[in-house]
Amino acid sequence: MSSERAAPPTVEEVTEVLSTVIDPELGSDVVSLGMIPRTEVSTEGQVVVEVRLTISGCPMRAEIKKMVEQRLMVHPGVTKVKLEWSEMNSDERSAAMSTARAAARDRAPETAIGQRCQVLAISSGKGGVGKSSVTVNLAAGLADRGFTVGVLDADIWGFSVPRLLGMSDRLEATEVDGRPRIIPNRRVIGDGVLEVVSTGFLVEESTALMWRGLMLTKAVEQFLRDVAWGDLDYLLIDMPPGTGDVQMGLARLLPRTSLLVVTTPATAAQRVAQRAADMAQRSFLPVLGVIENMSGFICEHGDFHPVFGQGGGQALAEAIDVPLLGSIPIETSVASGGDNGEPVILSRLGAAAETMNEIVDRLLDTVAPPLSSEDELDGCATKILAAFDDAFATEDQRNLANTNSGSGTES
Ligand SMILES: Nc1ncnc2c1ncn2[C@@H]1O[C@H](COP(=O)(O)OP(=O)(O)O)[C@@H](O)[C@H]1O
Ligand SMILES: [Mg+2]
Repeated sequence: MSSERAAPPTVEEVTEVLSTVIDPELGSDVVSLGMIPRTEVSTEGQVVVEVRLTISGCPMRAEIKKMVEQRLMVHPGVTKVKLEWSEMNSDERSAAMSTARAAARDRAPETAIGQRCQVLAISSGKGGVGKSSVTVNLAAGLADRGFTVGVLDADIWGFSVPRLLGMSDRLEATEVDGRPRIIPNRRVIGDGVLEVVSTGFLVEESTALMWRGLMLTKAVEQFLRDVAWGDLDYLLIDMPPGTGDVQMGLARLLPRTSLLVVTTPATAAQRVAQRAADMAQRSFLPVLGVIENMSGFICEHGDFHPVFGQGGGQALAEAIDVPLLGSIPIETSVASGGDNGEPVILSRLGAAAETMNEIVDRLLDTVAPPLSSEDELDGCATKILAAFDDAFATEDQRNLANTNSGSGTES
């Protein structure tokens, strides 16, 4: 490493990054919504961004601030991000709304993931660290608390989600709004439900190798577009190892995807940390937190044995400046739960299940709280826009139903 500082980004590059920041309410990126009237970059790498809110005092402000800072700070040449706030006048506001409205219509066929679904991709620098185990357990934990949780197995030829959830039915297709759609396999857990899609439901486990020729990103894209996901609170994506291009695909198709990075406590994690930070930088997907897995073994005497080293999760979390969400110990119940299709988190027995439940609670409380609750968005532009939202939904359905008759009235 040289001590020379990386060159600051150009204003165009900053704008490109900002165009991946989606206003959580309007569902479009802040640049096309006209929310970024001014951007300045100093030679020292300080970026000043003026953010023009639809309504000042919007509670989404903190969220927008976080996204803008997170995404800009991954650029090595950015030293500081400063946000200046202003408020739209009524003309600007109605322009923003019609942009959001048009985009909502265009976007409809792009992905079948609802606007208020929290999308979390579980990734790691390498395989075998427990990504799939963590994915299905967090998904089951969220469902157990009453949420509707999609699980997308993006490990197209190394799928393990079907086995870990004890599900094997072939996927069926049906017509939704005049388009053929894949129906996810459903499993009710507690008060909630899992909606699961995996190539494991398309092919026999032994023929999975034949999928090698298939373009990974294309398969993931197809799952995002052509699955009738329904109204999800969360979508958890089990990422394949070595995920560069799949992450790029996600950043393009579902730019609001955030990453949870799973690592083991081995001290070699420093290098993995660097790789994960690089990945995030290339794809501009923000990392929300680190989960350490296989953090030692608690023997029958209650003694702790750090089998795979110590401190890797913390080191990674510090290197990329995100919280360590939890350290899951090695327990045979994690593996046997996987073999039986019963995620250990549901047993609520043992330290591994306990830690996983704590991680789920942290996601719900602070790290990735559900966006579906109307109350939470109350008092903001949402109030005005809820009516519009409803209008798009019904109008979109009408338009889809009437595509042949060529109707599509603008109001
Ligand atoms: N905390 C844990 N304790 C014991 N076994 C675990 C734990 N986490 C994962 N495993 C086991 O390790 C293996 C790899 O886990 P998996 O979730 O498939 O990793 P990845 O998806 O990253 O390749 C599996 O056999 C799984 O049952
Ligand atoms: Mg896996």
